[in-house]
Amino acid sequence: MRMIFLGAPGTGKGTQASVLAGKYSIPQISTGDILRKAVQDDTELGRKAKAVMEAGELVPDDVIINLVNERLSQSDCRRGYILDGFPRTLAQAESLDQLQAIDAVIYLDVDNRVIIDRLTTRRVCRGCGKLYNVATDPPPASGRCDVCGGEIYQRDDDSEETVRNRLDVYYEKTAPLKSYYQDRGVLHIIDGNRPIEEVRADIATVFNRFSRS
Ligand code: AP5
Repeated sequence: MRMIFLGAPGTGKGTQASVLAGKYSIPQISTGDILRKAVQDDTELGRKAKAVMEAGELVPDDVIINLVNERLSQSDCRRGYILDGFPRTLAQAESLDQLQAIDAVIYLDVDNRVIIDRLTTRRVCRGCGKLYNVATDPPPASGRCDVCGGEIYQRDDDSEETVRNRLDVYYEKTAPLKSYYQDRGVLHIIDGNRPIEEVRADIATVFNRFSRS
C-alpha cells in the first residue's frame, strides 16, 4: 500500500499519517520530521536545511529526492508506506513516478483561516514528535510530553508570518500536484475541516481498498 498525504501546511497530514501508519503497520515517511531531526543533530543535511525551513521555503529538490530515494530503498518500505510532505514539487512527483507506482493520494482540503489557527496553536514533543494543540489538545502543564517525557516546544516555522509564507509557497509550488494526481486517477479529496476522528474514518475507507494488495 503506497500512499501520499498531500495538503497545505497544518491540514493534518502528520496527525492522520502517524495513526494510520501504526494501524496498517507501514512506515510514515515525513520529510519534515527527517529534516528537523537533521537540524537537531547538526548534520550536513541539517545545516543545509535550517535557514530554508525557518523561512518557510522549500529545501532544494535534489537534496529531498536523494533523501527519499534512500529511505524508500530500506526494507521496511517493502509492504508500503505513507509519504507525508513529499512530493511537494512537480520535479519531486516525477522523480517518484520513475521509482514506484503510487496507489492513492489523500488530499486534505482545509480552509486557510483554520490552517492559521491550527499552526499557531500547535506544539510538538522534541523527543517523540507527539503533536499537541493548546486550543484543542493541550500539552501537560509540566511542559513535558505525556508519552516520552520530552520537552514540548513550538516549531520555529509556526509563527503567523512564516505560516503565511508557507501557504504562499504551497499554492505556488505544491498545489499544482492536485491536478497532476487527479489526471492519473489516484486522487482522493477529503474535507479536513472536520474533527480528527471523522477525517480519519474517511481516509481509512480509502486505505481499506488497498490493504490486501
Ligand atoms: P513539514 O513538517 O512537512 O510541514 P508542513 O507540510 O508544512 O506540514 P505541517 O507539519 O506543518 O502540518 P500537517 O499537515 O502535518 O498538520 P498536523 O498534523 O501537524 O515541512 C516543514 C518544512 O520542511 C517545509 O516548510 C520545508 O522547508 C521542508 N520540507 C519538508 N518536506 C519537503 C519537501 N518534500 N521538499 C522541500 N522541502 C521540504 O496538524 C497541525 C495542528 O492541527 C496540530 O496541532 C494538530 O493537533 C491539529 N489538527 C490536525 N488535524 C486536526 C483536525 N481535524 N481538527 C482539529 N485540529 C487538528
